[in-house]
Amino acid sequence: MDLPLPSLCPCCIPGVAVPLITTALAILLTLRSTSLGKRSALVSFLLKLVACLALLSALLLSALGSSQALRNKFFSSLCLLLSKPGPLDVHRCPLVQRAAGKVLEIGPGPGTNFRCFAADPDAAAAIASYVGVEPNPEFEASLRRSAAEHDLPFPISTTWLTAELGIDAPPGSFDTVISTHVLCSVQDPGRVLENIREVLKPGGTFLFMEHVLAPPGSAARLLQRIAGPSFKILADGCQFRDLWGEIEGALGDEFEFGGVEQFDAPMPLPMFVPHVKGWARKR
Ligand SMILES: C[S@@+](CC[C@H](N)C(=O)[O-])C[C@H]1O[C@@H](n2cnc3c(N)ncnc32)[C@H](O)[C@@H]1O
Repeated sequence: MDLPLPSLCPCCIPGVAVPLITTALAILLTLRSTSLGKRSALVSFLLKLVACLALLSALLLSALGSSQALRNKFFSSLCLLLSKPGPLDVHRCPLVQRAAGKVLEIGPGPGTNFRCFAADPDAAAAIASYVGVEPNPEFEASLRRSAAEHDLPFPISTTWLTAELGIDAPPGSFDTVISTHVLCSVQDPGRVLENIREVLKPGGTFLFMEHVLAPPGSAARLLQRIAGPSFKILADGCQFRDLWGEIEGALGDEFEFGGVEQFDAPMPLPMFVPHVKGWARKR
C-alpha cells in the first residue's frame, strides 16, 4: 500500500531561514559601513565566516523544509552516522534485550537495536519474530545490511508505514513493542501510543527510551527552544516533547510501569541530554 509520508508545515521554512538571512545581512551591511582598523582583519574575517555559515544554513534548511524526499535522504544518512555504537548503549542495550516473543519495533531506522540483540545470544533466542514499522524508505538498505551483519536467529520483516496510520496487525498480536528515539519524530504521539496499546497482548511489554523536554528554566530548555525549529527540519520532524507525560497519560490506566528513569544521557549536544527510559506491562 502506498501511503503519504508525514510532511512539515510550509510556514516552518521562512520561520527558521529568515532570522539566519537577516543576521547574515546585518553582519555584512555593518562591515561595509564600519571602517575596522588593520588589527580588526581577523574579526572581519570571522564575522564574514559567520555570515556565510548563516546563509548556507538558511539555504540547507529551506531546501530540506520544502522536500520530504530530500529530508528522508538527509535524515537517513545523518541517523546512520549518529547511530554507531557509543556510550548510550549502556542504557539502550539492557532495555531492548528485555524483548521477547513476537516483537514490533516502531521506527527502527538503520536497525540500531540489532547490535543489542546480537550482543546477548540469550536475549536474541527469546525473540520469536521481529517486525519493524518504518515510514522512511531510505532506511531500507541500512536496515537490511544491519540485519545481515548481525546474523540474528529470528525472522525479520518491515512494514513501510507510519505508526499512526496503522501497525497492520490484529489487536493483541505482539508480546513486545520497542520505541527508541522515535516518539519525538512521530506526528501524533497520542495516536501512536494508542496503536501500541492495541497491538500488545495482555501481559505484553512496551520498552521505551526517548529524549525529552528539559526542565523549565534550565539551559538545556533554552537551547531546545532556540534549536527546536531547525532540528524539526534537520531531523525529519524531531521535536522536544514531554514524552514521559505522554506515555504515562496514554498508558497509565492499563499498564504497570517498571524501571522508569529520567536520566542525563551521554549525548554530544546538550539539548538531547534529558532522557527517559523504562517499560510498561499491559495488565
Ligand atoms: C532518530 S531515528 C531512531 C532510529 C532508531 N530507533 C534508533 O534508536 O536509533 C527516528 C526513527 O523514527 C522513524 N519515524 C518517524 N516518524 C515515524 C512514524 N510516524 N512512525 C514510525 N516511525 C517513525 C524515523 O523514520 C526514524 O527511523
